[in-house]
Amino acid sequence: MKVAVLGAAGGIGQALSLLLKNGLPAGSELALYDVAPVVPGVAVDLSHIPTAVKVAGYGKDDLDPALAGADVVLIPAGMPRKPGMDRADLFNVNAGIIKTLAEGIVRNCPKALVGIITNPVNGTVPIVAEVFKKAGTYDPARVFGVTTLDVIRAETFIAELKGLDVAEVKIPVIGGHSGTTILPLLSQVEGVEFTDEEVASLTTRIQNAGTEVVEAKAGGGSATLSMGAAAARFCFSLVKGLQGEEVLEYAYVEGNTGDATFFAQPVILGKNGVEKLLPYGELSAFEQKAKDDMLATLEKDIKEGVDFMA
Ligand code: 2OP
Repeated sequence: MKVAVLGAAGGIGQALSLLLKNGLPAGSELALYDVAPVVPGVAVDLSHIPTAVKVAGYGKDDLDPALAGADVVLIPAGMPRKPGMDRADLFNVNAGIIKTLAEGIVRNCPKALVGIITNPVNGTVPIVAEVFKKAGTYDPARVFGVTTLDVIRAETFIAELKGLDVAEVKIPVIGGHSGTTILPLLSQVEGVEFTDEEVASLTTRIQNAGTEVVEAKAGGGSATLSMGAAAARFCFSLVKGLQGEEVLEYAYVEGNTGDATFFAQPVILGKNGVEKLLPYGELSAFEQKAKDDMLATLEKDIKEGVDFMA
């Protein structure tokens, strides 16, 4: 299994690469690409960890060898959010970066499963899709916006609030990966009852959790460690799928919910990426309204990505 991390020297990239070095199946190859000159050093640093995963670093001009033959490509590259900034503010900087990297994927590993972390995810995923469409290599089953951070935050906050074992908490999170487009389906958490006040406050906390981190870091960046953990969890699921296991995940894909062109929904992962799109089931009245209210925002975010490529 070859996994390429594009933007491997950044805050998310380093945390993610560490977890992959420790968690990918023996014999895997980890290709670390970044425009930052420290990337060969990050690779050497990681290479001293005694696991059977081979690590190599690739600098600015070596995107092609980094991607050659990759089975999975994870993209945390780009500028992080600063206090007062919305994820959408990042769009102009990160759109160009993601386009260049997607073109590299077309040249070197058009069949790879691609996990996009670069914000704003609602708009960067459509950019990647458009690049692939232009090249004639687009397969919606292989392109994912990584929304796992919303899922792990929801699991954590629910477990905290209800005094549960966090390993036992399962929560669907659908929609997008920004503000109100993030929609946790608290009505579907098995064996747990929430009051209306709890639903309202938990939903808001999950939607604003990224901002919680940005503000707590007070100018020092956005979520990197929890995002690294979330992306690693998603990557391990992609890899298990490639190895023939069927795995359930939530991800932002060009799916079949009918809500928006791209929408996070439950998917079964397998040898070809998405093996099956699953319905997200019945919504409570609160969730239905939250979904209806957010769709215009999500469509606008998606259109921004599509328009950037046009
Ligand atoms: C977040 O939600 C960085 O997208 C990331 O905090």
